[in-house]
Amino acid sequence: MLDFQERLQVYQKSVEAALEYWLPEPSIQPEKLHEAMRYSVLSEGKRIRPVLVYATGEAFGIDLSELDGPACAVEIIHAYSLIHDDLPSMDDDDLRRGRPTCHKKYDEATAILAGDALQALSFHILAHDSKIIVNSQQRLSMIDTLAIASGSRGMAGGQAIDLAAVGKSLNIAELENMHIHKTGALIRASAELGALSVENIEPELFSRISQYAKCVGLAFQIKDDILDIESDTETLGKPQGSDIASNKPTYPELLGLDGAKQAADDLYNKAINCLDVFDERADMLRAIADYIVKRNK
Ligand code: IPE
Ligand code: IPE
Ligand code: MG
Ligand code: MG
Ligand code: MG
Repeated sequence: MLDFQERLQVYQKSVEAALEYWLPEPSIQPEKLHEAMRYSVLSEGKRIRPVLVYATGEAFGIDLSELDGPACAVEIIHAYSLIHDDLPSMDDDDLRRGRPTCHKKYDEATAILAGDALQALSFHILAHDSKIIVNSQQRLSMIDTLAIASGSRGMAGGQAIDLAAVGKSLNIAELENMHIHKTGALIRASAELGALSVENIEPELFSRISQYAKCVGLAFQIKDDILDIESDTETLGKPQGSDIASNKPTYPELLGLDGAKQAADDLYNKAINCLDVFDERADMLRAIADYIVKRNK
């Protein structure tokens, strides 16, 4: 029987050791920048994107060590996106992962630069990591996958849509589009990076993994919107009520809390169906989909 919590911790420990390895020491110049990068990345996150990289690789029998590089790369992009998301010119939040946000702990310029430097570091890892053993063509596909998912056609584009939508009421298609970009793209890329760690993966299986992750990526942001209403600041480690305070369009606002929960459940079912040709090695992927819609932080 799969012990989800136990496996989750194995993945979390694995990525945390790798992050520690790749992040420059705080004693190396410029010290403040390196400190800020470490402060934000090594704080207590759920590591759900690395977890998806590992679980996808393991569904194909890949060793964890081969997945450390892509797991780190995606978590580092995520950490950079959080630093910038919290800036005064974006969501203007003071608390992240239970601690002052990067610009509060350091200063705004340092937070901007920490994000910039983290973004570059994640591509360095994908280009450089000797534990990634797929051929060069496939390594290049990994780099490209993460680049597209992070840029204007992925996360950064979604963040631009989010900022432009403040105070507006979006329809469901527009809201879905925003969520698929700002959050869904990196989550989808996480599973795709795991799949790209498999040499010569069958296109049908790759496509099923990608569809699975598209569903859980959207479900993840719907749940994030729900938690912004239903949870509390201490549990979340970030300010509860931030969306309402900033006039953000969200799923609960448009569909009501029950409607938003139903939408997340429907996506869970769709995600599980995508995995029906996989054996029990994909059970962590199944359990992650469940965790994403049931989590309380
Ligand atoms: C928060 O992401 C930002 C979103 C994209 C919704 P997570 O909920 O994964 O945050 P951490 O990494 O656990 O702090
Ligand atoms: C975050 O969306 C999307 C990112 C790309 C970071 P939110 O703004 O809802 O994330 P939180 O709630 O601040 O973590
Ligand atoms: Mg935001
Ligand atoms: Mg935010
Ligand atoms: Mg949120």
